Amino acid sequence: MPIISISNLSKAYSDGTNALDEVNLEVNEGEIIALLGPNGAGKTTLISTICGLLTFDSGGIKVGGYDTVTEYRRTRKLIGLVPQEVMLEPFETVYDTVRFTRGMFGYPENKEILTNVLQKLSLWDKRKQMIKELSGGMKRRVMIAKDLSHSPRILFLDEPTAGVDVELRQDMWNLVDSLKSNGVTIVLTTHYIEEAEMMADRIALLNKGKIIFVENKDSLMTRLGEKELTIKFKSPISSIPEALLKYKLALSQDRLSLVYLYDNKASRTGITRLMRDIAATDLVLQDLKTSQSSLEDIFVSLIRS
Ligand SMILES: Nc1ncnc2c1ncn2[C@@H]1O[C@H](COP(=O)(O)OP(=O)(O)O)[C@@H](O)[C@H]1O
Ligand SMILES: [Mg+2]
Repeated sequence: MPIISISNLSKAYSDGTNALDEVNLEVNEGEIIALLGPNGAGKTTLISTICGLLTFDSGGIKVGGYDTVTEYRRTRKLIGLVPQEVMLEPFETVYDTVRFTRGMFGYPENKEILTNVLQKLSLWDKRKQMIKELSGGMKRRVMIAKDLSHSPRILFLDEPTAGVDVELRQDMWNLVDSLKSNGVTIVLTTHYIEEAEMMADRIALLNKGKIIFVENKDSLMTRLGEKELTIKFKSPISSIPEALLKYKLALSQDRLSLVYLYDNKASRTGITRLMRDIAATDLVLQDLKTSQSSLEDIFVSLIRS
């Protein structure tokens, strides 16, 4: 059974913005899933509805088998949410801030757990300092510590590394790794492809409130093996010649080039055959160029279409 199950979820804001449009998504226990998408895609809206911080118009969400609306108290207890913005009491100490959050979830103070969490986030030495004395990066660490203090089974990280320093970013990745090995399910949002690539087991691409696809990162990465061969001719082509129709070819907008997609890791790329078939037509070659498509290109083309 998936630990999170979202069906036909839709949400429009009062100004008419369709932030979520019939979203279906299942998250498996223990996996790291990245919700990837440009700004405004609906990532924050989606995790806010899962966490029960935001209402939705139609559809449903189950967390750990419980309904997030009718069994809110049960689902909320399973969840830790680290929001994008830092919200902390400036005059509270680090230790008390974290202890207080644990208490809010109905758990008694547990020195061992709190010590462990603070150490993991390099906050132990600062435990007696007031929040207002901390740097921005340290405050972020406190935000995470708060949510780990009640040992959630699912941790949501909303843009965890947007605008953070390199050191914190590295720590964040290590932390995510160690949480995963403890069986915690992690849902992170990001608009950095690199980050999704680095951390996630699966990637869900969101755009304009819709899930474009959900795919294993590894199978997505094999698409990176795709290369493009651009064959330029001396004069424009009115249409792709009959003899070349069996190839996966696209005609460029200026009609001067044919673009051939192939897998450069495959044993046969088809290039030799294609070039031979081109030579047999009356097309006259001008130039050849190959380029590798990146994950970024793949996303950009998917988002555009
Ligand atoms: N409180 C709000 N009121 C109206 N529109 C909102 C509100 N919050 C977000 N939106 C809009 O909903 C869409 C999705 O926003 P959001 O979930 O924040 O996207 P993301 O986190 O992917 O950047 C955007 O078009 C955004 O402008
Ligand atoms: Mg957001």
